[in-house]
Amino acid sequence: MDAKITLTVNGKERTVVTDPERPLLDVLREDLQVTGLKYGCGKGLCGACTVLVDGKRTHPCVTPVAKADKQKITTIEGLADGDRLHPVQQAFLDVGAIQCGYCTPGMILSAVALLEENPRPTDEQIAEWMNVNICRCNGYTKILNAVRRAAAQIAEVKRS
Ligand code: FES
Ligand code: FES
Repeated sequence: MDAKITLTVNGKERTVVTDPERPLLDVLREDLQVTGLKYGCGKGLCGACTVLVDGKRTHPCVTPVAKADKQKITTIEGLADGDRLHPVQQAFLDVGAIQCGYCTPGMILSAVALLEENPRPTDEQIAEWMNVNICRCNGYTKILNAVRRAAAQIAEVKRS
């Protein structure tokens, strides 16, 4: 039976009436036209779909939409502050950590979650955390550099 689900997506409250077992990914992309998150494996293994649910890294391809009821969803569309990119977005641009771009929204959301939990990660911690995000273009070195740069920039802003 369908259920009424309320999601706050990038700060805006959205309501859908749907099968509560549908993947959150399908509801976001198909019902709400929030398409920054990408479909990759559909099994929680590639990270292409990564979003934040109440700030926690989540794979919506394997998350029933009912689990996200009344929670805050952040996707790549919700990271920038007006014209100002989030420091992680800016760092990916600055170091050229984007090739085809398919993995990029998930990579960025994953890095944002990491830096919220651990603002000064070591290279090993970055590599371990980002390990669940796959880049078919094999851009891992630049992605690591981007996360490192974003951490340094966030720390600098906090100091000033
Ligand atoms: S599409 Fe969700 S983890 Fe691969
Ligand atoms: S940039 Fe192409 S998959 Fe990562």
